[in-house]
Amino acid sequence: MSSQINVLGIAGSLRKGSYNRALMHAAFAVKPPEMIVSEFDLVHLPFYNGDVEAQGDPEPVLLFKEAIRRADALLIVTPEYHRSIPGVLKNALDWGGRDPKGKGVVTSPLSGKPVGLLSAGGAAGAILSQTHLRQILVETRSNVMPHPQVFVAMARQKFDADFQLTDDPTRQQLTDFMAAFAVWAHKPK
Ligand SMILES: Cc1cc2nc3c(=O)[nH]c(=O)nc-3n(C[C@H](O)[C@H](O)[C@H](O)COP(=O)(O)O)c2cc1C
Repeated sequence: MSSQINVLGIAGSLRKGSYNRALMHAAFAVKPPEMIVSEFDLVHLPFYNGDVEAQGDPEPVLLFKEAIRRADALLIVTPEYHRSIPGVLKNALDWGGRDPKGKGVVTSPLSGKPVGLLSAGGAAGAILSQTHLRQILVETRSNVMPHPQVFVAMARQKFDADFQLTDDPTRQQLTDFMAAFAVWAHKPK
């Protein structure tokens, strides 16, 4: 087994000034050397529609599913919207949790995939969003790392105007998280 780990990052926010995207990049900046990172922007994914799926996955969905399959593990970094995950992320997981050939969820790209979760938000660091996301990923049969859990509270105070992380305790949390995630991604499930 190669020691290299390919991690695909997914941010649950589309906006340029997203603290969650900034958090994903801050996590990438402290990754262990064996980890190779890339990211998938959810902006081009259409809404899930069973009629469209029955005709065959649209190109952006094929690209998304292929990116998940190629990755050894996913890093999902999400805000909280109305006590849950943003619709754009739920939509992506609805596509990613499906096998278009009717073989069921067990053969979907998300099934068996190691996943790490991070979140950034206000006073509670999007804890409810991350908890809800964990529940969704049980249904997709994904292998979510249980610990350490990182919820970045008061995110706007922890990044500068260029979206660089300025908070050293958060950087240390991310360093520990990424080291544990590298081990989790390699562990036989
Ligand atoms: C539609 C919407 C709903 C939100 N609901 C919540 C919420 O339930 N709890 C919370 O802590 N923050 C909530 N927020 C605040 C966002 O979590 C906050 O703006 C966050 O920075 C957005 O993530 P981003 O910076 O990565 O885009 C909400 C924001 C929006 C736009």
